[in-house]
Amino acid sequence: MKIVRKRVVVLISGRGSNMQALIAAAKAPDFPAEIVGVISDRANAGGLALAHAEGIKALAVKSSDFASGEDHEAAIERAIGEIGADLICLAGYMKLLSAEFVHRWTGRMINIHPSLLPLFKGLDTHRRVLQSGMRVHGCTVHFVSPEMDGGPIIAQAAVPVANHDNEDSLAARVLKAEHRLYPLALRLLAEGKIKLDGERVANSLIGQVDDDQMILSPDPSKEPVDVEALARFTP
Ligand code: GRF
Repeated sequence: MKIVRKRVVVLISGRGSNMQALIAAAKAPDFPAEIVGVISDRANAGGLALAHAEGIKALAVKSSDFASGEDHEAAIERAIGEIGADLICLAGYMKLLSAEFVHRWTGRMINIHPSLLPLFKGLDTHRRVLQSGMRVHGCTVHFVSPEMDGGPIIAQAAVPVANHDNEDSLAARVLKAEHRLYPLALRLLAEGKIKLDGERVANSLIGQVDDDQMILSPDPSKEPVDVEALARFTP
């Protein structure tokens, strides 16, 4: 049976390793989404060349080319419209989006953040985690809401913090988890296995501890989706 894939545009500002993880995952024949475009607000974002090399439409829409932040955002949204997207994935996109933009994409735009939200919103998460003395750290994929890093949580992966960790070693461990978590979360969203229920995300899946000592939650292989429970929520 031919699956109908959701069309995904990825917004980036930098190296694009999470974007690459999404592109790689979407190559699987049964993946329910395809990456149809990558847009960066910075012309020098390394991810643009990577996307282009994959044959994906990749364009820079620079804020310096526009008179105001509103005009820039409108140009980004126009580009998304021209490509034609069902879903937006933010992957290291460093510009804050306006509440109007966010509301237009409610339930259809997700972001990955390098901490176990709601802890450590914002920048420099690895440094702040080390300073805090936390023994676990991780990453979160969440729906985007107008509050930065504040939207309903879809999935999280936790990793241990080691005594010998520095910012780089901790960042590398979390990034590895990000590259597994983001495709998983996109899959769940594109398959309709999670629904936005006000401030929370509804699903009936439970997590797992895997061989890399990551806790992945939810894990779609662990429990069948309770379709009736999901039917009560509208995205
Ligand atoms: C990632 O750590 C992501 O969680 C954060 O920005 C970083 C982007 O890295 N939002 P990359 O461009 O995906 O490599």
